[in-house]
Amino acid sequence: MKPVFIALDFIDAPTALKFLEPFKDVKPLAVKVGMELFYREGSSIIKQLREQNIDVFLDLKLHDIPHTVQQAAKQIGQLDVQFTTVHSLGGSEMINAARHGLDEGAKKAGVNAPQLLAVTQLTSTSEEQLHDEELVHVSMAESVSHLAKTASQNGADGVISSALENELIHQAVSNDFKCINPGIRLPSNNVDDQKRVVTPQKASELRTSGIVVGRSITQSNDPVQTYKNIYNAVNGGIK
Ligand code: C5P
Repeated sequence: MKPVFIALDFIDAPTALKFLEPFKDVKPLAVKVGMELFYREGSSIIKQLREQNIDVFLDLKLHDIPHTVQQAAKQIGQLDVQFTTVHSLGGSEMINAARHGLDEGAKKAGVNAPQLLAVTQLTSTSEEQLHDEELVHVSMAESVSHLAKTASQNGADGVISSALENELIHQAVSNDFKCINPGIRLPSNNVDDQKRVVTPQKASELRTSGIVVGRSITQSNDPVQTYKNIYNAVNGGIK
């Protein structure tokens, strides 16, 4: 089944946990904890979510020298989270170091190692920025496929990508390399600050491996029903 990660973009644990109360009997349930919540609450929020059997994607986008990333990943590996992220621009050695750190941490804690996802180019980076600021002289598509390939060769299980890039990435790497897609909106939603959005149904057609949904669920009038509708749309449209 393809997970729908609810992005818990909340300022603190009480707010996030209160939001999750009505989801008490909803299974499966998966959430994404990002920098905002993690920097405030640290590993205690992860522990509280895991105690409720909620799958956790800890999205910290590590990017530093390989040794530092390995040590950080070793800490993350002990948290019993199911997914985590690094920036592939940190390079092959750094991605490898992250993989090793996660495996070491998980072994130490006696839990399963998280799947490692790599960010290729941030979706906020424009083709113009890529050329003028980063002095990268290949196209965005070429850069994204190259970084995805590098990530896959160094222990990553997948990438975070726009659903519109899934085909490109599957072609560059393989069909079972995971493409987890944010930038999801329901047909009735405001697009907010996202530029290229797709519906859950469209993400499914574009062979998503799982989606990240924030405001379409968190700001809905009925978050539980909206989550269920989205989950069903991504997993084959069961009503
Ligand atoms: O509210 P919305 O559905 O736009 O939230 C999407 C979530 O996915 C946010 O937590 C955002 O930081 C994250 N994200 C994204 N685009 C990326 C990577 C992560 O929107 N390329």
